[in-house]
Amino acid sequence: MEIKKVGVVGCGLMGSGIAQVAAMAGYEVVSFEVKEEFLDKGFARIEKSVRKLADKGKISADDATAALGRLQRTTERSGLVDCDLVVEAIVEDLDAKKELFAELGAACKPDTAFASNTSSFPIAEMAEASGRPERFVGLHFFNPVPLMKLVEIICHDGSAEDVVGAVRSFGEAVGKVPIMAKDTPGFVVNRLLVPLLLEAVRMIERGDATAEDCDTGLTLGCGHPMGPITLLDYVGLDTTLSIVEGWHSRFPDNALFEPPALLRTMVEEGKLGRKSGQGFYAWDGDRRQ
Ligand code: CAA
Ligand code: NAD
Repeated sequence: MEIKKVGVVGCGLMGSGIAQVAAMAGYEVVSFEVKEEFLDKGFARIEKSVRKLADKGKISADDATAALGRLQRTTERSGLVDCDLVVEAIVEDLDAKKELFAELGAACKPDTAFASNTSSFPIAEMAEASGRPERFVGLHFFNPVPLMKLVEIICHDGSAEDVVGAVRSFGEAVGKVPIMAKDTPGFVVNRLLVPLLLEAVRMIERGDATAEDCDTGLTLGCGHPMGPITLLDYVGLDTTLSIVEGWHSRFPDNALFEPPALLRTMVEEGKLGRKSGQGFYAWDGDRRQ
């Protein structure tokens, strides 16, 4: 299969980044959101990032303008029907994702391939819901998408080889190093990373360490670019809670997947991290205060 036109559903932290790197790689991109205001916010993030890359000489000013010109936006599902690949990056809610893929499966042209950027949900379940499981894979990018070099490609038992190959080539074309992952909770990276983030929250809950201690510990002690609590704020406390709640409901006996009460409380209070301006730390845009 050949991929020329890419649809990206959701223009939040991840969807905007995926749309951006696809446009920068020369694909025609349509970004779909439920409301114009979310597209406004996402497109402002894309423009800022592309201009930053141009200012730093990573891309030329002409290429930046051309990339922005390849991006279209829509709040109508019909805008996605002729895409060769649709990448989903909506909220981490399995029912919402399955409902979306059922609608896309009925609406898109028969050979459109689907990919989910889910952090944690079973690819096979969404593939089934789409009505075209053979044309479905997981395609998991990392935050911030324009800078992080990895993409995980997750096949399920029914993924067709040509679709997997085309999506892998797409991942490479947008500048990422792909690793193949199995359809297991958290795939490779989040299965390792999320328990670490949760354990840092439990340490704060128990009074064993402060947020700053956890962050200084892992940045200076282990060379991590961001400590676990800053990273939690960066990823989004709501997204992390959804990941762990999904795992906990499917694997209630695994203590690693127990959602910390503090995480739940902070999400209930609207402290979502960088995206809401307040999490464990206060944020001014992308900068931790
Ligand atoms: N686009 C373009 N430029 C960007 C950018 C973006 N989206 N984000 C940051 N930059 C720029 C900054 O503006 C800054 O530019 P200047 O040098 O001109 O100031 C430069 O990149 C460096 O950024 P910072 O100074 O903010 O900080 P940094 O050197 O620490 O780099 C980072 C930023 C690359 C994000 C680094 O901190 C990092 O690697 N952090 C860890 C990120 C990580 O672990 N991501 C994975 C999260 S888990 C996940 O994604 C999976 C999941 O399912 C939850
Ligand atoms: P986000 O909250 O920043 O953005 C989600 C966007 O999806 C919102 O703008 C929302 O309006 C939109 N949306 C919700 N329902 C929709 C629908 N039915 N149709 C179209 N748009 C819809 O979330 P995010 O951080 O970008 O995460 C998106 C996905 O990527 C999640 O599955 C998440 O687990 C995954 N992910 C997140 C990270 C991260 O670090 N935040 C990293 C990798 C993967």
